[in-house]
Amino acid sequence: MRLCKVMAIAKPAHLLFFRSMLLNPKSMGAVAPSSSRLSELMASRVDAASAPVLEIGAGTGAITQALLKGSVNPERLFVIERDPKLAAFLRHRFPRVRVCCGDAIYSHRFLSDHAIPCVRTVVSSLPLRNLSSVEMAANVNAILHALADEGQFIQYTYGSGCPIPAWRFGLEVECLGRVWQNLPPASVWRFVRRP
Ligand SMILES: C[S@@+](CC[C@H](N)C(=O)[O-])C[C@H]1O[C@@H](n2cnc3c(N)ncnc32)[C@H](O)[C@@H]1O
Repeated sequence: MRLCKVMAIAKPAHLLFFRSMLLNPKSMGAVAPSSSRLSELMASRVDAASAPVLEIGAGTGAITQALLKGSVNPERLFVIERDPKLAAFLRHRFPRVRVCCGDAIYSHRFLSDHAIPCVRTVVSSLPLRNLSSVEMAANVNAILHALADEGQFIQYTYGSGCPIPAWRFGLEVECLGRVWQNLPPASVWRFVRRP
């Protein structure tokens, strides 16, 4: 009875997220969409000059929304989401954003299909900590392959420390902050290539 009440007042995005989480917990890596505080912090270093922007693992689009609010032109925002239902939801929610239903590993190919050789910013919600070290390295290398030399890569994590061994990928790292108003609390990290 209580669950029915919760379902009746929950937003469609939360219900869809919950469904995907039940079906594929490892791939979702979260119990709820990113909060507005976390989404704002993820978007805080991204403006029109940071485009083109690639967002990976956009889920139900909380961070996509914050990026658009932060003046990223929707035509300059490219999204990859592996879950077909979530990708369809994102296309419906953001009709002017190019959404690819696919794996982050193929980021470069997706961008090439749109005549984009590389992006200036990658914003990622990938659950990197749920991956083996080999899978994690493959995803980070795919991200770096899609990123311009002077580009930035922004990632959040639920752990307390940096989500990737930055030195191993030749990256400098900066912690943009911790967000307590998120389920669970998260920290946001920004990476650039070492000069
Ligand atoms: C933590 S959830 C995203 C939360 C999102 N910020 C939100 O507010 O809804 C991680 C997302 O990454 C997607 N994902 C996981 N592995 C992926 C991969 N290899 N390529 C693309 N998307 C992936 C999942 O389907 C899921 O939607």
